[in-house]
Amino acid sequence: MKEKINNIKEQINNFEINSDKDLEKFRIDFLSKKGLLNSLFDDFKTVPNTEKKEIGQLLNVIKKLAEEKLEEGQNKFSNQQTKQVEINNDLSLTEEHIEIGARHPLLIMKNKIIEVFAKIGFVIEEGPEIEDDWHNFSGLNFPENHPARDMQDTFFIDKEIALRTHTSSVQVRLMENQKPPIRAIMPGRVYRNEAISARAHCFFHQIEGIYIDENVSFSDLKQTLYFFVKELFGQDFKIRFRPSYFPFTEPSAEMDISCVLCKGEGCNVCKYTGWVEILGCGMIDPQVLESNNIDSKKYSGFAFGLGIERITMLLSDVKDLRVFSNNDKRFLQQFQKL
Ligand code: DAH
Repeated sequence: MKEKINNIKEQINNFEINSDKDLEKFRIDFLSKKGLLNSLFDDFKTVPNTEKKEIGQLLNVIKKLAEEKLEEGQNKFSNQQTKQVEINNDLSLTEEHIEIGARHPLLIMKNKIIEVFAKIGFVIEEGPEIEDDWHNFSGLNFPENHPARDMQDTFFIDKEIALRTHTSSVQVRLMENQKPPIRAIMPGRVYRNEAISARAHCFFHQIEGIYIDENVSFSDLKQTLYFFVKELFGQDFKIRFRPSYFPFTEPSAEMDISCVLCKGEGCNVCKYTGWVEILGCGMIDPQVLESNNIDSKKYSGFAFGLGIERITMLLSDVKDLRVFSNNDKRFLQQFQKL
């Protein structure tokens, strides 16, 4: 029996495990039910009692030896083996699919608008979304406690600080930091405390524009905006101005373009008027120039502000503002050709 044990021990030591196949053969030869070690344990039953202790110890040593050798081999080959089997076996697997993202429709539209104004010399400027009372209201001629402040429902952080309600706040920042001529557009996100619906949201995006120089007139404003409409919407679009009120411009106007859907014939988008409103504008009130240290006798300027969501909706089939912020990939991926 001892000789048999030594013989098997030698076989175990000499067995070379170089692949997962060798490993499996080793397991079957030595450690499976019908393997050599089990047969030794069968033989053990016939060993005389006096020798049981010694033989038993030898058997345990040889069993441990085989098990350790198997484990060592498993560490080397088993993981690799299972991985290969997984990959090789499922031939129906499609190749790995990497989803490509899409630019947001509002970003696409913002860039288009920026491009149009860049052609006529407008540079891009930006300002903070958390704004103080001066830049959002007082510097734009909204007197304290004046009802004009109620035109926009504001998210106040404290008495002095709020989320900006419009990008007009950036006008004030430019006037205090730059000297005319100033010609800039100011894109950005704005916030209003409104109930969210298909037509209103608590945040949206605007682009503000100003031009301040000597002898800037209302006809400059008209020509600039006319150029913008023709570039963005198309050559056959008409524009019209309706008198309006904003505290920071005098005179103020709202500008309409011929309806993008019916081209002026009348439809339910334009409520059968043939016109849709796209922006607010006007000549910068001399009071606003003066309170920002610009000499209103020497300089004049115009300003305008438009909503990016509104223009995107007019130029696409989107009828609900909320989809812009739902983050649904199926929606977002449709706009690459806008
Ligand atoms: N700030 C205005 C708003 O959010 C839009 C606006 C109107 C901007 C007239 C202007 C302007 O610069 O001249 O409703």
